[in-house]
Amino acid sequence: MATANNSTEQHIDPWNVKGGAKGFDYLKLLNQFGTHPITPAIIERIERLTNMRVHRFLRRGLFFSQQYLEQLLDHYEAGKLIFLYTGRGPSSEAMHLGHMIPFEFTAYLQKAFQCILVVQMSDDEKYYFKGGDLDNYRRLTRENAKDIIACGFDHDRTYIFSNFDEIANGNPGLWRNVTELSSYTGVNTVRSTFGLNKLFLKNNDTSDADGQDTQDASDNDATQVKPGATPCSVGMMSWPVYQAAPCLASSFKRIFADIKEPDKNVFNLVPMAVDQAPYFRLMNDFCGFKNVLKPAQIHAEFLISLAGRNSKMSSTDDSIPPIYLTDKPDEIRKKIRKCFSGGGDTLAKHNEFGADLTVDVPYQWLLIFLEDDEQLKKIAHAYGPPTDGQVRMLTSEIKNIMCECVVQYVGRHQQQRKCVTEEVLNTYFDPTRKFNLERQYREPIELLSDAQYNTQGANFDRYFGLYDR
Ligand code: TRP
Repeated sequence: MATANNSTEQHIDPWNVKGGAKGFDYLKLLNQFGTHPITPAIIERIERLTNMRVHRFLRRGLFFSQQYLEQLLDHYEAGKLIFLYTGRGPSSEAMHLGHMIPFEFTAYLQKAFQCILVVQMSDDEKYYFKGGDLDNYRRLTRENAKDIIACGFDHDRTYIFSNFDEIANGNPGLWRNVTELSSYTGVNTVRSTFGLNKLFLKNNDTSDADGQDTQDASDNDATQVKPGATPCSVGMMSWPVYQAAPCLASSFKRIFADIKEPDKNVFNLVPMAVDQAPYFRLMNDFCGFKNVLKPAQIHAEFLISLAGRNSKMSSTDDSIPPIYLTDKPDEIRKKIRKCFSGGGDTLAKHNEFGADLTVDVPYQWLLIFLEDDEQLKKIAHAYGPPTDGQVRMLTSEIKNIMCECVVQYVGRHQQQRKCVTEEVLNTYFDPTRKFNLERQYREPIELLSDAQYNTQGANFDRYFGLYDR
């Protein structure tokens, strides 16, 4: 983000994401959040339980952190129900590529585990935080839901809801959980978990500020706040309980109508980008207090901005605009040509040292978007630091590969989005349908060797031996 704060420390909360001088340090986050890595053993177990190869996001360690995932797998292995919960704040028409990562991954999880998914469209959240017209966010809920549906969710297992409408139209289970969670959760917990004290400062409402972290006062992006959004309003303060409450199966009594004590019997898993993790930390204490299952979580790294590794792709902050899901091939190519590269300044230097893959945006993006590990390895060895004395692959060449990959991805998305008519859309939002809670048998797949699993997840070497790890 454009910020006067020159600190090189990374900062990650749901409203501000900023990498350090060397990009994002995800290991540090594991420690800071007290979560756990995705080990090869977990990956093997997921393949054995689902009889499907894991998504490359897991294989390559891009979903890098988890909490209670092994407990969820125990539950699933015992033949019991699980469900997925994720969401989207519909703040603008234009979703970009970074927004797709959690949804693409969630579609894989749903397919693999054959389970229910609920998607919260947090139109009310965006209204609290950005102001403007509530109905506009409700409209964006529907527009963005088309992009979400285009990721390929199983219709009979997927419920998408506008959070505003869900409550306005009366979901007694959700409302009870919001109420109980609101009573249980202290204002100071919200302030410390979410850094909302910094929001107080940022918006010059110092009435409640502790006056310590004055540096953050310069983080002021009040320009983004439209009329009607009071700085640190009651709505903002209470938002966390609304985002957390759908983790409980009893928030969806229509879907789990036949299940006794759903909160003790249906295990929830929330896939998300890691900046959303603080919301779900709220549930741990509450679920302990209620003696119900704590939600499992799985966290993704960010898609880095085209401008480089220390910021995530974002519509508001980037010097190069993000790649939108509505971009035409030429627009995509034009943006990618401008992206930051780790290639040498001169051809001679490039041939001598190769590109620095750790900062090279095309390489970092291929890690996410290119399916084939062998091809990725070849590119790393042809473009990165030389081990063979060969002439290096040029930055223009890797950018071309990146272009084709992204153009294809976006093109496919646009095709799929076209199939989402108003009618299809309406059915995803219909809570009165019959949902499919059954698991179908799937032929076992051949598992990999231990040695192969050992190179996956947290152990995956993104640079194929080119750098010390
Ligand atoms: N707060 C998220 C955003 O601003 C949207 C969201 C709502 C969400 N519920 C969620 C994200 C559950 C992950 C999981 O985009």
